Amino acid sequence: MILRSVQLQVESSPVEYDDIIIAPSILSADFARLGEQVQAAEAGGAGWIHIDVMDGRFVPNITMGPLVVEAVHRSTSLPLDVHLMMIEPEHMLPAFADAGADHITVHYEVCQDVYRTVNMIKRLGCKAGIAINPHTRAAVLYEIMPIIDEIMVMTVSPGFGGQSMIEATLPKVARLRAMAADKKRENMPIVTDGGINFDTAPSVAQAGSNVLVVGSAVFNDTSIADNIGMLRDSLKSEEV
Ligand code: DX5
Ligand code: ZN
Repeated sequence: MILRSVQLQVESSPVEYDDIIIAPSILSADFARLGEQVQAAEAGGAGWIHIDVMDGRFVPNITMGPLVVEAVHRSTSLPLDVHLMMIEPEHMLPAFADAGADHITVHYEVCQDVYRTVNMIKRLGCKAGIAINPHTRAAVLYEIMPIIDEIMVMTVSPGFGGQSMIEATLPKVARLRAMAADKKRENMPIVTDGGINFDTAPSVAQAGSNVLVVGSAVFNDTSIADNIGMLRDSLKSEEV
């Protein structure tokens, strides 16, 4: 039954251009000027700030923790979208909530009990997101659609900024958009994360993602505000 409804309805339902949120990932920012760069992203029209936490075990990289979330929280009024790429995230949830996280996304691949972890995040007053890696099927999220606040589709293998998008992940976005509608969650935020730039952003929005995480295409050696503006123009010009 589930397969039938998803198969029958799977066609990309592009998101209205104006509804798209650009969420700059500070992983690619200049940490010697982090506050300044976050404020430039806010001034440039960013909707969220994406903070990539990596533990060196779930992914082969170590980045930042609650201290950086707290510093960014002092630098901007934008919602902080904390992406936990770590095993056993449950014991760190209170620390990230206390540091100022507004959204906390954990990976499906590390959850022993998604209901328990999602409820822990919600009890801390944060939006609860579930991320899936490129190899993880969309179907794993069908049953938990009613309880999660957002979905994150990894469009690269997690661990590093500056990678090329795995185009094969985009049909998953369309399937998830159809599954969310099937579960009466038409407005479910579907976040896409990794390899998004002026060239790939239109196809990501076309597939049905409404929150685009962008790291290296925003924080590079040119103007942050101009980069965000060009991303928006790329979405507009493609009549997404
Ligand atoms: C990768 C992170 C992404 C990454 C995005 O593991 O989750 O948020 O920083 O950076 P770009 O846009 O450069 O791929
Ligand atoms: Zn991320």
